[in-house]
Amino acid sequence: MAMESIRLELTEGTSWLSRKIVKHEMNRHASLLETVKKREEQYRDSLGWLDVEEWAGEEWLSKCEKLAAYVKERADVLVVVGIGGSNQAARAVAEAIGEKSSVKLVFSGNNISADDICSVVKQLEDKRVFINVIAKNFETLEPGICFWALRNILREKYGAAYSDHVICTGTIGSHFERLSKDEGYHFLPFPDNIGGRYTALSPVGLFPLAVAGIDIRKMAHGGKKMQERLYRESAEENIALEYAVVRNLLYQKGFRMEMLSFFEPRYYRFAKWWRQLFGESEGKDNKGLYPVYGSFSEDLHSIGQFIQEGTAVIFETFLNVEKTEPSFILRHDGLDDRFVYLDGMDFTDINRAAYEATVAAHSKRLPCMKLTVPAIDEESFGQLFYFYEFTCYLSAKLLGVNPFDQPGVEAYKQYMFQKLGKPQTVDCRKQLEDEGRIA
Ligand code: PA5
Repeated sequence: MAMESIRLELTEGTSWLSRKIVKHEMNRHASLLETVKKREEQYRDSLGWLDVEEWAGEEWLSKCEKLAAYVKERADVLVVVGIGGSNQAARAVAEAIGEKSSVKLVFSGNNISADDICSVVKQLEDKRVFINVIAKNFETLEPGICFWALRNILREKYGAAYSDHVICTGTIGSHFERLSKDEGYHFLPFPDNIGGRYTALSPVGLFPLAVAGIDIRKMAHGGKKMQERLYRESAEENIALEYAVVRNLLYQKGFRMEMLSFFEPRYYRFAKWWRQLFGESEGKDNKGLYPVYGSFSEDLHSIGQFIQEGTAVIFETFLNVEKTEPSFILRHDGLDDRFVYLDGMDFTDINRAAYEATVAAHSKRLPCMKLTVPAIDEESFGQLFYFYEFTCYLSAKLLGVNPFDQPGVEAYKQYMFQKLGKPQTVDCRKQLEDEGRIA
């Protein structure tokens, strides 16, 4: 019978941690699990994701679907403008599952490359275009200037009616919302009680996916199912606590990197989402595991050497898919190319053999875990998002850091803003007027 939910296993040969120690630590942290489930007061402004119903319940699902239906009738392309937590979850799902509607999603606003923005603009030629600008603070430079560039393209295409082609996802009461109202843009709320990297199951992640024809109800269902499971499972059997405890024990033993390895390249963008979630949530106060990913089997031919024999700082979590589609069978064509021994085999089976072989080889050298998901589909993504967010919260608590801030990200920005001559005052317009730079 096919599995329905995520499964976590420490691989055979993991001599670094005994089952007994892991269980003991899970029991020892039973009160942490209860604390996290009850919504800590100190993080109340960051825990809007903890109950999936709050931002992915009927109200927001139907609002996203309704606006998505409007866009789907009128667009060939939706440009999703955002960076970090404001675009990675939607991109992860869109690039793994693929668009199911006639609207193509293009992701932008996540870099400052002229080459990249030119390539985005080129993709919009002769197309019916909408843009979804996603920004919690609307102070981040990358999406800010991308929006500026793209709204001018929209003005050229649609004149004054361009505003009907803009959907802003922003914080209620913010400058962005006021601007959106003044210009007559469509508006969706960016949850005021969730930070970017935890917003997968909210209008931030769900609206663009609804436009792409992805079943956001199935995603929300997956998230809710995982929430119920993590609230139901006791400390001794709780899958999120187990993963968090294992990470922490390995960190204490001197491991400094976790590698998320996968044999389906479609997970590439998901791995980037995962990397941000853990990197930004845990990498502070001179602590944390550095999150890296490996897209196998390709990367086995580049970093596989380091993993097997390099500095012993890595442990590995394999993201394994139980049921993959499609299949592709090799048929003998009469040519003796020395691969004939694989005649009649499916790529899927060969990939599975490579996966099992890699787990076996790596387990001899480093601690390995297997996280098995039923399939690459909407429900699995819902489960994965909730699972990782919950685990990350637990894991950061075990490490003794704030899971929801990212103060270190500001450092480079100060140097950049200085170079670019950004006015120090909040009222930029007034300062620019005083300087005579705008009328
Ligand atoms: O997780 C986070 O909070 C950050 O990665 C933000 O998502 C990112 O910096 C983008 O922020 P904003 O939406 O305000 O532009």
